Amino acid sequence: MKQRETFGSKLGIIMATAGSALGLGNIYRFPIEAGNNGGGAFLIVYLFVALLIGTPLMISEFIIGRRAKSNPVGAFRKLAGIRTAWPWVGWLGILCAFLILAFYTTVAGWTLGYLGKSVANHFAGQDITQIQHQFDTFVTHPWLPIVCQLAFLALTAIVVARGVKDGIERWSKILMPLLLVIMVILCVKSLSLNGAAEGIKFLFKPDFSKITGSVLLSALGQSFFSLSIGMGALITYGSYIARTDNMVSSAVSVVLADTFVAIMAGIIIFPAAFSFGIQPQAGSSLAFTTLPMIFQQMTGGYFFCLIFFLLLVIATLTSTISLLEVIVAALTEEFNFSRSKAAWAGAALTAVIGVIATLSFRTGSPLHIGGTIAFDLLDRVTSHYIMPIGGLLIVLFVGWRLKRADTLDELTNGGTLKSGIRQAILFIIRYLCPVAIAVIFVSQLLQ
Ligand code: PFF
Repeated sequence: MKQRETFGSKLGIIMATAGSALGLGNIYRFPIEAGNNGGGAFLIVYLFVALLIGTPLMISEFIIGRRAKSNPVGAFRKLAGIRTAWPWVGWLGILCAFLILAFYTTVAGWTLGYLGKSVANHFAGQDITQIQHQFDTFVTHPWLPIVCQLAFLALTAIVVARGVKDGIERWSKILMPLLLVIMVILCVKSLSLNGAAEGIKFLFKPDFSKITGSVLLSALGQSFFSLSIGMGALITYGSYIARTDNMVSSAVSVVLADTFVAIMAGIIIFPAAFSFGIQPQAGSSLAFTTLPMIFQQMTGGYFFCLIFFLLLVIATLTSTISLLEVIVAALTEEFNFSRSKAAWAGAALTAVIGVIATLSFRTGSPLHIGGTIAFDLLDRVTSHYIMPIGGLLIVLFVGWRLKRADTLDELTNGGTLKSGIRQAILFIIRYLCPVAIAVIFVSQLLQ
């Protein structure tokens, strides 16, 4: 039998998982969700949810993946048996990866388009109205965003076809730290803009009266989306973790890094938005209008803009890679596809729905269902429904279905790591996580 690949080093898992986690969810989606859900109030809830539910859920996925050494479907089958319904949780995750990849590559394509715009210096000398107009024209163009999206999908398929270690690990290790450096520079610049204080107040001053059931569910959905949890991506990555790696500390590092980057994105985008007179609820255009405006105000702006969009493309690529990897792991192991055939078949299938998501931004597009564009519908179905349900089932599985001794064996690497804190983690997985996810989910349904 073919030896299953594992990540080459501990840093490799952290970087690859961080590569999956860090992406458009932090830089594009977090500001939109915070903007629409009351700023500071959203941030507070988000922090609680990411740390208290997100971390144990990430650890649970690692436990399932490493124990079974298999894709999500095979993992549940191995650990629970064929005659149970558990493998359906794996299939649900694969469906979710596919749906996310479809609309994620819409925005991924925009980042590629914006990289092109920064090379061609399209933002020079433009005011905010012109930059907003440029965004609207670009996303509603009849074919340009589709070409960008398909190019992005092809790029993803090329990397995934080459395999885990060569492709995923190498890219993530070098480029993620570089993205952090450029974001720190952007934070400093944004904070120095006129009127920046308003934006900081919006992000950090919570108005607790704004916390409603829908804010709670949005924060839950955003944290699952941003951490790539609740749908099997990290079961797949967990299956490549070596026996000796400390998965608890890896998960904690990734959650902290991811949260830090989301907050940094907020510190970059909200002060700039207030300074340029953009509403924090501007939605899709928020990142794509504030960022070019910030660069315009910087010395060396052309250069920074170029590097930033290049790194954003790469951060996005490490996320699309992990999404396609979920589909590929299932196709190769469940249906005996070759790796490269699986990568291209997965990408082609995604393209069909992906193009619909992209076209739904066109004015007067018929791709509306009940007043919502196809893009938003895919986003909402995955983050508000599939991921919370998937996450709930995953913690229930690890907490109640796996043998306690097996779970502790994974958590302590066969008894070689301290078990005190790990017992506490198991307690959180068994009781706190399922109750919290269920309460948030049900309270929103009832509203
Ligand atoms: N976590 C990614 C982001 O924040 O951009 C999005 C994502 C990637 C979600 C991979 C789910 C996933 F499996």
